[in-house]
Amino acid sequence: MARERWPSRLLFIFAAVGSAAGLGNLWRFPYLTYKYGGGAFLIPYLIALLVLGIPLLVLEFAVGQHFQRSTVGAMRKLKTWAGAVGWWMLGIAFVVLSYYAAVMAWSLRYFFSSFSMAWSGGAESYFYEQVLGLSSGIGVLGGINWILLACLIGVWILIYFSVFKGIKSVSQVVKVTMPLPILLIFILLIRAVTLEGAAGGLVVYMKPVFSALLDPEIWVAAASQIFFTLSVGLGIMIAYASYVKKKQDTAGDALWTALMNSGISLLAGFVVFGTLGFLAMQKGVAVPDVVASGPGLAFVVFPEALSMMPMAWLFSLLFFIVLLSLGIDSAFSLLEGVLAAFKDRLRTSTMKLSLIGCILGFAGGIIFVTGAGLYFLDIVDHFVLSYGLIMFGIFECLLVGWTKAGKEVKEHLARESPWFPVNLWWWLIRLVIPIILVVMFITFFLKELAAPYEGYPGWAIAVGWAAVFLPLVVGFFLNKWYGKKREVAEITVP
Ligand code: PHE
Repeated sequence: MARERWPSRLLFIFAAVGSAAGLGNLWRFPYLTYKYGGGAFLIPYLIALLVLGIPLLVLEFAVGQHFQRSTVGAMRKLKTWAGAVGWWMLGIAFVVLSYYAAVMAWSLRYFFSSFSMAWSGGAESYFYEQVLGLSSGIGVLGGINWILLACLIGVWILIYFSVFKGIKSVSQVVKVTMPLPILLIFILLIRAVTLEGAAGGLVVYMKPVFSALLDPEIWVAAASQIFFTLSVGLGIMIAYASYVKKKQDTAGDALWTALMNSGISLLAGFVVFGTLGFLAMQKGVAVPDVVASGPGLAFVVFPEALSMMPMAWLFSLLFFIVLLSLGIDSAFSLLEGVLAAFKDRLRTSTMKLSLIGCILGFAGGIIFVTGAGLYFLDIVDHFVLSYGLIMFGIFECLLVGWTKAGKEVKEHLARESPWFPVNLWWWLIRLVIPIILVVMFITFFLKELAAPYEGYPGWAIAVGWAAVFLPLVVGFFLNKWYGKKREVAEITVP
């Protein structure tokens, strides 16, 4: 059977940018920039992009494209045992997907409440009490939130119809979900910068504080943001690239993806801080008093600001469409990464596999729409992203940098992207990046030992670690299964 293909190079880049540009661009990047030195943060950010992000993206693209296999198959070509690492990455991707979908369910709920501006006058209590029904602590599950569950089902239906025909449907959907949020961000940008007080917000966002660069924390923050924002370390980009034909400028694709993704982050920051400047002026407080990140930004502070604008409902609708359209292609890229590995191995129809994937993902995500959902989301997100991505980054670099099959990847790059400084890249992935990542890992781990994350109880911390390591156990067995079938096939084929 011929491998599925992207209809064009452009649509592959659309899909990759769609995956990269997600909630992190909107609710993480602007906040980090503000927190770590304003405009000065762009220096470590750009350095991390050049030294860490783009080389890793090039690596994932080249691995997928050269071996023409998704994550597990490609990892097995590097070293058979590394297939287990591939499954491990995908297991973690699945965990991320299950809570990413829950955040999208919140967005969907807000999309519907935009018509009535249901949060006017009490954005904070609306989010925590009415929408989430947040329990008093992680130990109190608080029952299922039925409205959110319905929204979650809605989100999973959207995800299903994005992947149900494989790359064919994905490439149709990204024609909308990649450009749409960019267009809307431009509209929101014009709205934001013409609001009273916007300039005050923009100054807080961008005013460089160069002394901040002396703090090592800012460098670690920049590096981990780059990791998360480019969707590397979860096998997605390997899977997507495995559907690219073998002859294509791999490194060029990576460069375009990275540049567009960072451009979206930068723009989103202007929207966020312009609007925060307006909010601060309306409330008569200083901008830093209203700054937030994560769910607090997207579902409390920003909605509050929206409710104070003329035509509030309209801009609210636009904002939540931005969230949904930014998020959906990141969400289904996570699923497609997992499905691709099964599709390489099984003859089961794509529709059936997708359906099974969606049902399992939905079931796994129910915990995140309970009263304690936000706590679980917070813990799992912290552990999985701090440790999972970094570990896979290390594995990927060493597996490509120090194996015989890895050398083919380098040759592939030299052939397909003659303009790319392959030798420099080679030493980055063989040595420099693994060292940086090990240092980051240790930094995070020491912090973990110093105090339990956010003061959560021990069992909750154990849940976080389990989310990181249970997929490894599953991955070990799945790799055995994958290999068994392969041996049978290889013995009988010749
Ligand atoms: N890159 C996405 C973002 O910035 C998040 C993501 C990470 C999506 C990993 C898929 C995989 O929001």
